[in-house]
Amino acid sequence: MLYTENKFKRYTITSALPYANGPIHIGHLAGVYIPADIYARYLRLNGEDVLFIGGSDEHGVPITIKARKEGVSPQVIVDKYHAIIKKSFEDFGISFDIYSRTSDATHHQTAAAFFKKLFDEGKFVEKTTEQYYDETAQQFLADRYITGTCPHCGNERAYGDQCEACGTSLNAMELINPKSMLSGAKPIKKETKHWFLPLDKYEGFLKQWILEDHKSDWRSTVYGQCKSWIDMGLQPRAVTRDLNWGVKLPIPNAEGKVLYVWFEAPIGYISATKKWAEQTGKDWKPYWKEQNTKLVHFIGKDNIVFHCIIFPIMLKIEGSYILPQNVPANEFMNLENDKISTSRNWAVWLHEYLEDFPQKQDVLRYVLTSNAPETKDNDFTWKDFQAKNNNELVAILGNYINRIVVLTHKFYNGKIPTPEKSFEDIDNQLIEQLSQYPKLIGSNIEKYHFREALNELMNLARLGNKYLTDNEPWKVIKTDPARVRTVMNLSLQLAANLAILAEPFLPFTATKIKNMLKMGNFGWQEAGKADLLLSETEIGNAILLFEKIEDAAIDKQLEKLANSKKENEKNAFVPKAIKPECSFDDFTKLDIRVGTVIDCVKVPKADKLLQFKIDDGQGGRTIVSGIAKYYTKQVCFIANFAPRKLKGVNSEGMILSAEDADGRLVLITPSDLVKAGVNIG
Ligand code: 2FM
Ligand code: ZN
Repeated sequence: MLYTENKFKRYTITSALPYANGPIHIGHLAGVYIPADIYARYLRLNGEDVLFIGGSDEHGVPITIKARKEGVSPQVIVDKYHAIIKKSFEDFGISFDIYSRTSDATHHQTAAAFFKKLFDEGKFVEKTTEQYYDETAQQFLADRYITGTCPHCGNERAYGDQCEACGTSLNAMELINPKSMLSGAKPIKKETKHWFLPLDKYEGFLKQWILEDHKSDWRSTVYGQCKSWIDMGLQPRAVTRDLNWGVKLPIPNAEGKVLYVWFEAPIGYISATKKWAEQTGKDWKPYWKEQNTKLVHFIGKDNIVFHCIIFPIMLKIEGSYILPQNVPANEFMNLENDKISTSRNWAVWLHEYLEDFPQKQDVLRYVLTSNAPETKDNDFTWKDFQAKNNNELVAILGNYINRIVVLTHKFYNGKIPTPEKSFEDIDNQLIEQLSQYPKLIGSNIEKYHFREALNELMNLARLGNKYLTDNEPWKVIKTDPARVRTVMNLSLQLAANLAILAEPFLPFTATKIKNMLKMGNFGWQEAGKADLLLSETEIGNAILLFEKIEDAAIDKQLEKLANSKKENEKNAFVPKAIKPECSFDDFTKLDIRVGTVIDCVKVPKADKLLQFKIDDGQGGRTIVSGIAKYYTKQVCFIANFAPRKLKGVNSEGMILSAEDADGRLVLITPSDLVKAGVNIG
C-alpha cells in the first residue's frame, strides 16, 4: 500500500548507464544513483515488486577516444572502468538488482534485433549525406571526433555533437574551423549513407503524451525542457554511425557502421532485464510490456531529450513496450562553486572519497540527498559536508541513538523496560506524532521529493531528542523510576522507527541501529507504531554511528582541489601563434650574448625592477629588468638594442626570460659557465 498510488503491480526503475571511460564522482551519485536507490529501497520496504537496473555504457566516441589516447583497445578501457564503477556502486550501497554492461552479447543481440525490426518495417529514413572525413586517419569523424568553434557562443573547443560551453546540441557541419581529433587535420566532406529516425513524424504523439498527459506529474524542469524541444520542432535524427566500436548494423552492405550509442544504450535497460531474468529464472517481459508496470527513468538533466523524446519514440514505434511514467531528472551538482569536470579533475571521486573517509558512505549519501539538485543546480562544499556531519548526523541522529542505548544499559542492564499502563499527555503526543512520519516521509519519496523526505526523517530524530530533553530521564530516575520506564520504552520505540525509516537514505546506519536494538526486519507499513520492540528483551551494546569530522580532514580535501586548479591553469596554456617568417639575416641582426652578473640592486620606487651590473667582457654595462627574485650567475642578453631609460635608470640591453603559463618568470641561462660577452647564435 503506497500513499499516493496503488495502480501498479511492479516497478521497473532504471538509472542512466554511466560511460565506462572513467571512474564516477559525487555528481553521478547526487544526480542519479542515490535518488534511484532511495526510491527502489523504499518500494521494496513496502513489499512492492521492484527491478532496479544499472549498467555501464561501453560504446560511443568518448570511449574510443580514451582508448586511442592510452594506446589500448576500447575493450581494455571498458573492462577497467566497468569494474571500478561497479565496485563504487557496491561500496555506496546502490542496491541494483543487476549491474550489466552494453558490451555484453545479450545487449548486442537485443539492440540489433530492435533496430532490425524497425528497419524491416520501414520505420527509418535512409539518407546519403556529406560527413566530415579524416583522410590521414581514413575515418569518418562522428560526434566527438571533430572539434571546432561553436557557431552560437564562439567556444573554440566545441564538439561535433555538442558545445559544452553553451550546452547547444550541434551538428558537426555547423562547426566553424572544424578539426579532426585524430590527426588535427582539416577534414574533407565525403558522402556516406545513414538511417534516420523521423522524430518529426511523432510530434503529435509527444504533444499528447508529455505536454498533456504528464503536465502535472513531471518535474517542471523536465517538462519545460521537453516542451521547448517540441516547440522548436523535431528533426529526423541519424541512429547509425561510421565507427568500428559498437553494435554492428544487422543489415547487409553496412560494413564499418554501428548503431549510434544513444540509440542502443537505453535498450541496455531492456537487455539488462533479460540478463537478470536469465540469472534469476524470472520472466523479463512483464517488466517492460505490461501496462500495470511503472517504468521510471532516473537521469541527469543532460540526458532528458534521450529519455523523454527519443527513447519513448523508439518504444512507441516498436509497439510492444510500455512508456516511462516519470523521468525525475535532476539538475547538476557543482563542486565548490564550479562545474564538476572530469578533464579538469574538478571532482570528488568515489573511490578516493572512501580512501579518505572509510566507512563514511552514509555521510556522503546524507549530504548529497539533503542538498539534492532537484529543482536547480546545487553546490557541494567541503565546509557544508563537515557541518552537516557534525551538526546533524553526529549531533541529532547519532546523539539520540547513542543516548538511549547507553541509558538502557545504565538503567536496565540493556533490557527494554516495560512501560507503565497509563501514558501522560506528552507520551500520547509523541505516539501521535510518531505515527505520522511513515506517511510524511513516504509520500515525499513517492513524489520524488527526496530532500524533503530526508528532512522529515531528521525531524523525527529531533522529536526524539526533544522528548528526552523534556523528560530528563537521567534526572527523574532518582525520583520516579516508574516514569522513566515509560520514557525509555517510548524512546527506544522511536529509535526502532528511525531504523526502518532511515533505510532508504542511510542503509548502513539503519543496519547498525537494527543490530544495536536487536530488532527484526519490519516493513514500511509497520513503522509508525510505538510497540515494535518487545519489553524485557535485550538490546546490544552502543556503537558510534557517526564521528566528528575535524578541520584537518576538510583542509586536505580543499588542498587537493587547489592542486587541481593549479594543474588546470597550467594545462589551459595555449601557445601563441607563431610570428611571421623571418630570415637568418634578420636573426643575425640581433646581437645576443652571455654576461656575468656582477651586482644586482632594486630600482627605487619600482616593485619588480632590478638593476643589473653585467660584465660583458668590454668594460661592463647596466641593464634594468623585471625578473625580480630569479637571480643567477650568468644571463643572456640582447646587446645591440638602443639604450632606454627605465624608472630613471639607463638600461643598456634586455635580459632574456620566459613567462610560464602561471605567470612565473624564468631566466634563460647558459647550461655551463662561459666567458662574459660571448655571442649566442
Ligand atoms: O550521459 C551518459 O553518461 C550516458 N552514458 C548515459 C546513458 S543512459 C542510457 F541511455 F543508457
Ligand atoms: Zn557554444
